[in-house]
Amino acid sequence: MKATAKAHTNIALIKYWGKRDESLILPMNNSLSLTLDGFYTTTTVSFKEELTEDRFFLNDHPIKGEQYNRVTKFLNLIRDYAQRTGLYAEVSSTNHVPTAAGFASSASGFAALAAASTRALDMQITEQELSRLTRQGSGSACRSVYGGFVEWEQGMEDDGSDSYAVQVAPKDHWDVRVAAVVLSDTMKKVSSRAGMKRTVDTSPFYSSWVSSIPDDLTQIKKGIDDCDFEKVGQIAEANCLKMHATTLGANPPFTYWHDTTMAVMQEVRAMRERGIPAFFTIDAGPNVKVLYLPQHEAAVQKYLREIPGVHDVIVSRSGQGVTYL
Ligand code: DP6
Repeated sequence: MKATAKAHTNIALIKYWGKRDESLILPMNNSLSLTLDGFYTTTTVSFKEELTEDRFFLNDHPIKGEQYNRVTKFLNLIRDYAQRTGLYAEVSSTNHVPTAAGFASSASGFAALAAASTRALDMQITEQELSRLTRQGSGSACRSVYGGFVEWEQGMEDDGSDSYAVQVAPKDHWDVRVAAVVLSDTMKKVSSRAGMKRTVDTSPFYSSWVSSIPDDLTQIKKGIDDCDFEKVGQIAEANCLKMHATTLGANPPFTYWHDTTMAVMQEVRAMRERGIPAFFTIDAGPNVKVLYLPQHEAAVQKYLREIPGVHDVIVSRSGQGVTYL
């Protein structure tokens, strides 16, 4: 009743932003991501008859509170599914993600937790079923089940049975690189969960965001198919800006951007003017991810590191899906 799994984070090129069902985690729109090899979580889950409650250790520290509650809530789902109510687990996770630097670890975290817990209970499930379960831990995590380019299909059913991720192109389809630009000062004030809810509830820009998604998806999938970097980069960057624009229309309004976030965006545009094709995308925090092709790696890194307020630049390639150790 013990298993260890490893899952990578992913960066959304077409963002998931807003839920139509908060408890099942059903999104308002399809989203599309690239799984990143540079950031991952390994999680060991051991179910033990003698435990009277779940235990959760993150990077060797015992965890209680909100993070613990999200883990046990997810394990309850797995226990219900496997009909093993009352069987508790010890969960030990190691994040190879600079969490302190404001990088989302919930995607790799829940994908690894879902994979390890289902394997520990010897549940015979498909990757599709794993993605559907993972979604209920954290939406974006359902995409981390797969490597390469991945689409989360929002689905139509109220019970979420058709809301899961599918692979669009495997990791070796195309060598696109992603530089994660870590900023020195990165306190995240509004979680993605709270931020998207406030936006759905109050932003007058929200409906336009949702209606613009299908066209972005069609175009970006064509771009991925053709390995057309300009096209993929332009759509991803514009999609990110649209998502962030919805937060400015929320009540109360908010933004995830810092001044250094904007400095990085401006530098990426300046790189393009110098003939280096590079594009940015930003999730629910101030850090920026920059997409580029391998031949421009040295130049992109150099320019990003020169920006005042940039603490580090971590390079990723396309990563693989969930694996078991
Ligand atoms: C901006 O998956 O963290 O990164 O489903 O509430 O756990 P919950 O939200 P989460 O939201 C991610 C939002 C995003 C865009 C994306 O990854 O698609």
